[in-house]
Amino acid sequence: MNGQRISTGIDELDLLVEGGLRAGRSYLIVGEPGTGKTIFGLQFLYKGLLNGEKSLYVAIDEQPAEVIEQAASLGWDLSPYIEKKEFLILDASGYINARAGDNQAKSDMHKIITELSIRIKQTGATRVVIDPVGPLIFSGESVARVQDQARMLFYALKNHAVTTTLVTSHSAGRNVRGIEEYLVAGTIVLEMELASSRFVRTLTLEKMRSTALDPAQYLFKIIPGRGIVMQQTSE
Ligand SMILES: Nc1ncnc2c1ncn2[C@@H]1O[C@H](COP(=O)(O)OP(=O)(O)O)[C@@H](O)[C@H]1O
Ligand SMILES: [Mg+2]
Repeated sequence: MNGQRISTGIDELDLLVEGGLRAGRSYLIVGEPGTGKTIFGLQFLYKGLLNGEKSLYVAIDEQPAEVIEQAASLGWDLSPYIEKKEFLILDASGYINARAGDNQAKSDMHKIITELSIRIKQTGATRVVIDPVGPLIFSGESVARVQDQARMLFYALKNHAVTTTLVTSHSAGRNVRGIEEYLVAGTIVLEMELASSRFVRTLTLEKMRSTALDPAQYLFKIIPGRGIVMQQTSE
């Protein structure tokens, strides 16, 4: 299955990237708060659930209950999948707290990776979302240390050959990127822009390894009951 294309959950986006994301790779969804990163992640996981795939959501900024509520507001009922153990929300906030103020960052990264690997195997998850990845790898340490941690995480994820991972990251703008961008197979940028005194949502395909793509910016909406829906570029 490694290298096959799997649906992003957004039909119009799949068409733009040769059918979808490459199975087994990691991708970065980057954008400021409110741009739709969590919804993108949930839509990706829900698509998998509908296909009979297992999914894992690693919650860092939000409580599992909030994630379930957010999905429900978009028409995606996660509870049957949680009951059937096809969908698991891993509350990773504890790892972040445990790290604050001590020098155990390295071993904690090992712990995070071990826990993540166990959960991926346990659930048989072929889709994983880490939302957001920043707090796991940044902790006020040197750039070199952060790079090490990011590398450890992404290399560990590579060992799960059939698992495709989306990690989300905050960004202050298109020129500001974390080092995690160099470690992923693709980057999708979500933004909100003011156009004729209205905010519009945009999605930019910034990087997609081994994929022919038009580096254009696309408009999208977040619609209750449907999630992210891309609009015709001519609109
Ligand atoms: N059920 C919904 N229907 C329509 N829009 C929604 C719904 N839920 C959230 N949104 C919109 O999505 C935005 C948040 O998206 P989210 O994925 O949480 O952003 P991020 O994770 O990037 O901070 C909200 O600001 C809101 O405008
Ligand atoms: Mg979010």
